[in-house]
Amino acid sequence: MSIDARPFVKWVGGKGQLLNEIQKIYSAGLGTKWTKYAEPFVGGGAVLFNVLNKYYLKDVYISDLNYELIITYRIIRDSVEKLVKRLKQLQKEFIPLSTENRKIFYYEKRGQFNILKSNITQIYSSLDLDLVELASLFIFLNKTCFNGLYRVNQSGEHNVPMGSYKNPKICDSDNLFSVSSKLQDVQMVCGDYQQSRDFIDSETFVYFDPPYRPISETSSFASYTQDGFNDAQQQKLADFINEINDLDALIIASNSDPNNINSDDHFFERLYASYCIKHVDATRMINCNSSARGCIKELLVTNANRFF
Ligand SMILES: C[S@@+](CC[C@H](N)C(=O)[O-])C[C@H]1O[C@@H](n2cnc3c(N)ncnc32)[C@H](O)[C@@H]1O
Repeated sequence: MSIDARPFVKWVGGKGQLLNEIQKIYSAGLGTKWTKYAEPFVGGGAVLFNVLNKYYLKDVYISDLNYELIITYRIIRDSVEKLVKRLKQLQKEFIPLSTENRKIFYYEKRGQFNILKSNITQIYSSLDLDLVELASLFIFLNKTCFNGLYRVNQSGEHNVPMGSYKNPKICDSDNLFSVSSKLQDVQMVCGDYQQSRDFIDSETFVYFDPPYRPISETSSFASYTQDGFNDAQQQKLADFINEINDLDALIIASNSDPNNINSDDHFFERLYASYCIKHVDATRMINCNSSARGCIKELLVTNANRFF
C-alpha cells in the first residue's frame, strides 16, 4: 500500500496548517454531493493531496500561473522514474560537498535552471529530457535554497540564495511515487485561474488560495511569478467566485486577514458580504526575516452555509 501523498515542494502560503479547518467545511459533502475537485491556485497543493488521499473523485483539475511548477507536476505524473533517478544523482553529488563547494554547485544549478526556464516556451512540449531536467532542478533548488522560497526577479530569473540545511532530502522517492500515483488522472493547466470556468459545475468543490493580500509593508516579497495580485485582482476573483456560486459549486477561498494590522480594514467583508467568513489561526513568516514568525489570523470564505 502506498503512503499518503504530501506536497513535494515547500511553497509560500502552503496550507498545511489550515487543513483541519478546511476539511471541516468540505467533508460533509465531498465524494457524495461533490464528486469533482478544482484547485485553480494549486501551489504546493496541501489541500489537493489531502483531498486525493481521502477521496476517489470523478474529475480533478489543478492550475497555476507558475510554468515550472506545473511542468514539475506533469513530470511527476508522467515520468516519475526519470525524475527520481536525476534527483538521486543530484543528492549524491551535493550532500558530501563542503559549504563552499555546495555554494558553487547550487549557483551553477540555479544558472542552468534559469537558462532552461528562459527557453520554456520552445521546450514546453518538446524534449521530455529537458523537462525532466527542469523539474529536477526546480525540486533541487526548492530543497536547498533559503527557506524553500520561490522568488523571481524582474527578468523572471530565480534569484533565491542557497539555504543552510545540513542534510536536505533532495530526493524523497517514496513521496514522489505516491504523488505520481495520486496525480494519474488529474488535469493540469498552466494558466490563469479563470480557465477553470469550463470545468466547474454543480458537482464541483473549488478551493481558491490566491496570493495573499500583503499583511505588512514588507511581506509582498514572496513573488511566485512576475505578476503580483493587487486589490483590483482580488475584486476580479470575487466576481469570478460569484459567477461559480451561481452554478451551485461548493466554494472555499482563503486569504490573509487585514485585521492583523488594521482593525478598520474590511476589504474582504465588503468583497464577500453574502458569504460565510471564518477567522482562523495560522503561524506565518511575516516579513523577509525568517525568524519573524507570528501567530496571525487568516480568512476562510465559503458558501457552504447554502448547502448544510
Ligand atoms: C498562496 S499560493 C497557493 C499555496 C497552496 N495552497 C499551497 O498549499 O501550497 C498562490 C499560488 O497562486 C499562483 N497564482 C498567482 N496568480 C495566479 C493566477 N492569476 N492564476 C492561477 N494561479 C496564480 C501562484 O503562482 C501561487 O502558486
